[in-house]
Amino acid sequence: MYEVSGKTAVITGAASGIGLGIARAFAAADMKLVLADIDGDGLDAAVQSFLDGGYAAIGRRTDVRHEAEIQALADAAIDEFGAVHVVCNNAGIGIGGAVEEMSVDDWAWTLDVDLWSVIHGVRVFLPLLKAQGEGHITATSSMAGLTCGPQLGAYHVAKHGVVALMDTVRAELRAAGSDVRSSVLCPGPIDTEIVRSSRRHHDGDALDSAGTFMDQLESTLREGMAPDEVGDLVLNAVRNERFWILTHPSHLALAQRRVDQIRADHEHRR
Ligand SMILES: NC(=O)c1ccc[n+]([C@@H]2O[C@H](COP(=O)([O-])OP(=O)(O)OC[C@H]3O[C@@H](n4cnc5c(N)ncnc54)[C@H](O)[C@@H]3O)[C@@H](O)[C@H]2O)c1
Repeated sequence: MYEVSGKTAVITGAASGIGLGIARAFAAADMKLVLADIDGDGLDAAVQSFLDGGYAAIGRRTDVRHEAEIQALADAAIDEFGAVHVVCNNAGIGIGGAVEEMSVDDWAWTLDVDLWSVIHGVRVFLPLLKAQGEGHITATSSMAGLTCGPQLGAYHVAKHGVVALMDTVRAELRAAGSDVRSSVLCPGPIDTEIVRSSRRHHDGDALDSAGTFMDQLESTLREGMAPDEVGDLVLNAVRNERFWILTHPSHLALAQRRVDQIRADHEHRR
């Protein structure tokens, strides 16, 4: 059991959605908050809401695509609160489009925001946690990191990468006998602004060709779980030192189907 009260958490993508839900759960558990987001106005509003509630919080505008900005985020957290204990690499975007139709810029944007950001986050924060001999590092993947479907190829590639990265981190921490813990959050549909936010940040035209798909995705997410519920699940996993964090465990049937297909194809060849 990890005692979180009085500890400091860094959360990226904290101006909205799941990141804000995680921040709310952590604040209620008496944690100090270092919130990061590329959306400066949204970030200011989020930080103010915590300060108004009497919580300890700072915000730092950060573009998670750049390791130097994540390093500056870590420095700001340590300047303000003296240490970092829990890190949530959560910022993300998602855009649709068939694999061969998505532009190279859209592939790069998706992999930069959804995968490279987590690689940077691990490279910057994991050495700090290991040196202090305690803490927890997590990253937000998706059920799209465990299964695949049409129209979200770049997102699937990035989110599978996040699962692979965090599972490797877990193995390396265990092999080193470290007390630092890791986890990966694989949400199903959550009622957030991700479709609107991705459209806002996106400056190409790929979304027009995938517009109907994105409209349908937005409707599906409107029926999804509330972000505050996800925040509680993440807090629970940090406290109980659990690696896999699922919001819709019934969707694991799709991952199981993949394993069954691998076995069936293999047996067919013999
Ligand atoms: N909503 C869902 O159904 C769902 C499902 C599975 C996984 N996820 C993942 O959850 C995470 C959070 O997404 P959300 O659904 O809460 O969406 P959201 O749009 O509500 O929040 C994401 C936040 O990330 C920020 N962001 C985007 N690009 C950034 C950048 N370059 N640097 C810093 N911040 C940036 C946005 O400004 C936004 O505040 C993402 O990684 C997403 O892929 C969401």
